[in-house]
Amino acid sequence: AILVGKRVRSRRKWRRVVGVLRDLEEACETSVGRLRQVVDAMAVEMHAGLASEGGSKLKMLLTFVDKLPNGSERGKYYALDLGGTNFRVLQIQLGGKTSSILSCDVERQPIPQDLMTSTSEDLFDFIASSLKQFVEREAQNSEFSPVKRRELGFTFSFPVKQTSVSSGILIKWTKRFSVKDMVGKDVSECLQHAMTRNGLDMRVAVLVNDTVGTLALGHYNDPDTVAAVIIGTGTNACYLERTDAIIKCQGLLTTSGGMVVNMEWGNFWSSHLPRTSYDIDLDGDSPNPNDQGFEKMISGMYLGDIVRRVILRMSQESDIFGPVSSRLSMPFILSTPSMADMHADESPELMEVARILKEDLQIPDVPLKVRKLVVKVCDVVTRRAARLAAAGIVGILKKIGRDGSGGVASGRSRGSDGKMRRTVVAMDGSLYTRYTMFKEYLHEALCEILGEEVAQYVILKVTEDGSGIGAALLAASHSSHSSSSSS
Ligand code: GLC
Repeated sequence: AILVGKRVRSRRKWRRVVGVLRDLEEACETSVGRLRQVVDAMAVEMHAGLASEGGSKLKMLLTFVDKLPNGSERGKYYALDLGGTNFRVLQIQLGGKTSSILSCDVERQPIPQDLMTSTSEDLFDFIASSLKQFVEREAQNSEFSPVKRRELGFTFSFPVKQTSVSSGILIKWTKRFSVKDMVGKDVSECLQHAMTRNGLDMRVAVLVNDTVGTLALGHYNDPDTVAAVIIGTGTNACYLERTDAIIKCQGLLTTSGGMVVNMEWGNFWSSHLPRTSYDIDLDGDSPNPNDQGFEKMISGMYLGDIVRRVILRMSQESDIFGPVSSRLSMPFILSTPSMADMHADESPELMEVARILKEDLQIPDVPLKVRKLVVKVCDVVTRRAARLAAAGIVGILKKIGRDGSGGVASGRSRGSDGKMRRTVVAMDGSLYTRYTMFKEYLHEALCEILGEEVAQYVILKVTEDGSGIGAALLAASHSSHSSSSSS
């Protein structure tokens, strides 16, 4: 009788945990029908954000980038890339049409955690002095001394209200940065002052978002590139828009008739998004509640933490994980790379899952059945993220008439000869470039939404380091002493 009672209790326990999983799956549902609703909502919000300032949660920020590098740029340029977990400085030598990028030196370093929440002066002094050391080292190795003033492309991957191609004001922080006295300040000016304080003679030629740098490099490599998407610590997209479609700044003339728009899609919101109680809790506990809703479902900063919250719930519902580990209540203790490693574990005994549960969450010795459950949770959370990102991409394609809808006559998907046009989207960010399952789910959803026939003309191209190299390329095409002509 004791044995039977035990078995019944254990079955009940298991049923409760499976119930948590079922509820999660249901709440994360992303049928193609629902994804199409997200696509439509994205396109509608894009229109609204372009129509008026504050017209949508999608900010649709002007970049003043109206020409993308085309390969004719020459000379030596620098770039500084701030916005993720690392910050990078680089220098490239451009050789003009035939020889393109001659050399590229990159140096990366982690941003000390305390600087992310310090004062703007501390943060920028650190950046400027690192940049200065880089320039000095590189000058020692070079036979020629620079005759002209050095030009810099500054990638600053946060929402910025640009006042020109080389200046702009920080609207708010995202991704857990929070240097209070920076919001509302001109970002380039802060850097320019810090460079002066540190005795570095350099001019900020362009101030860009990382998506814009990625688009620039993508376009440099492949002129059919019309948009760029980053899915890393945060997530965002930019694309090339016709100036006459940017209603909120009517009268703005560009020689090319187009301008790159930084969508800040991390802040996109729609009632069609499949939201769970875990998302609501994560948002409530974050330093920016009600902000960056799309980003909180998709990007690397958050996915691991959603999984942690589900495991915590399961562990509270029953003792299949043993006594509730206090680690499970610690925000961000399960990183997205760890979660991706568990998801990718193909060993029969799921030893990697066991290791991470033990080392990261202090949950030792769970049976294989429970380890499989954890992998399933990672799968549900990742699949939803990847499929939503795919819907976002199709939303952009729809807005610019490249989603294959509209038929031969009206659709811009087809060229004047009636043939489908190639549409390239430059992609970067560690979730897309390093997390195989994520990438596969994204591609699968893209095909489902667009249909095989149209999807074959949409090419997602990994464009690594675009946020750095692209910024240097843009510095070249917008340089004060550039002899190049770009289109
Ligand atoms: C965050 C930032 C955005 C950036 C993205 C990817 O969403 O707000 O500017 O492009 O992260 O780094």
